[in-house]
Amino acid sequence: MLTAFGKVILLGEHAVVYGRPALAVGLPGALVLESCISRPGPFRVRVFCAGIEESDGSDTSDTVLGEVLRLLKKRLGDGDGGCEILVRSTIRFGAGLGSSAALSVLLVRAIAAAKGIACADEEVRSRAHELEKHFHGNPSGIDDTVATYGGLCLFRRGGWDGVPGGLPGAQAVTPEALVLPGRPIPLVIGDTGVPRATRDVVAGVRRRWEDDRKGTEAIFDRIGKCVLRGARAISEGDVAGLAGAMRENQTVLAGLGVSIPEIDAMVRLALDAGAEAAKLTGAGGGGCVIALAPGKKDRVLDAWRAAGFHAWIP
Ligand code: MEV
Repeated sequence: MLTAFGKVILLGEHAVVYGRPALAVGLPGALVLESCISRPGPFRVRVFCAGIEESDGSDTSDTVLGEVLRLLKKRLGDGDGGCEILVRSTIRFGAGLGSSAALSVLLVRAIAAAKGIACADEEVRSRAHELEKHFHGNPSGIDDTVATYGGLCLFRRGGWDGVPGGLPGAQAVTPEALVLPGRPIPLVIGDTGVPRATRDVVAGVRRRWEDDRKGTEAIFDRIGKCVLRGARAISEGDVAGLAGAMRENQTVLAGLGVSIPEIDAMVRLALDAGAEAAKLTGAGGGGCVIALAPGKKDRVLDAWRAAGFHAWIP
């Protein structure tokens, strides 16, 4: 069965676009391939549970997904041959959980398999990264990396100069990605239900960076430090240390202008229900919130649900 991981960014979103590290964890089985049939005609994809249906529509389809399908046809197609692809999604699209990267990875895997093209993980990731540029403009690469490899991934755009200290067992899966030994992280995920486009939120941060490079770089440095502190805390089993890094990261992200009242309300509800930390995950501006809630996951879940937010334990 072909699948692709979704992701939650534990620490480091936005700053990762500017070369700081970020830490994310894969959500297994986020997208699952139901079928992919190679046959004459267009490249067409349907994603159940997400209401998505698109074809390469050569001349008519002007959506980003249509563009992506045309690119896939160029890269992996066999002349006039098409593909009928059915995908099941267990995550909401556009909620900061890496849906577009997961779809990119799954499409590459499915089409390569249907056309009999060998495609190892690293090639899948790099092709998916090319597709992600259509979805997001200037993706750091963390989403497509986690969508391909999963796990607990410490990522740095441009690569690492050696493994940072204090991370025993870290394994490089790509020059940019270190997978850390898995430890269960007691998370709850809640969805603000507020739609937004990652591309727009990332572009807003870019404008801020252009207006005030020095100040915004200082914010990114602070986020980068949170990330390394949090990664080391995880490897030492120090939940309080991870919580401190997450709380600081949320404060800094709010200062960067990517939190919204719904996110702030969900963070407050989670803390009141006993979570040690809560923060937005992904681009912000809407989308999802994560809570670190050892021994209190059900209380956070109940608090968010009682307030009308969709929430679950991954
Ligand atoms: C989006 O999931 C994470 C961002 O940092 C953008 C990126 O890394 O490409 C906001």
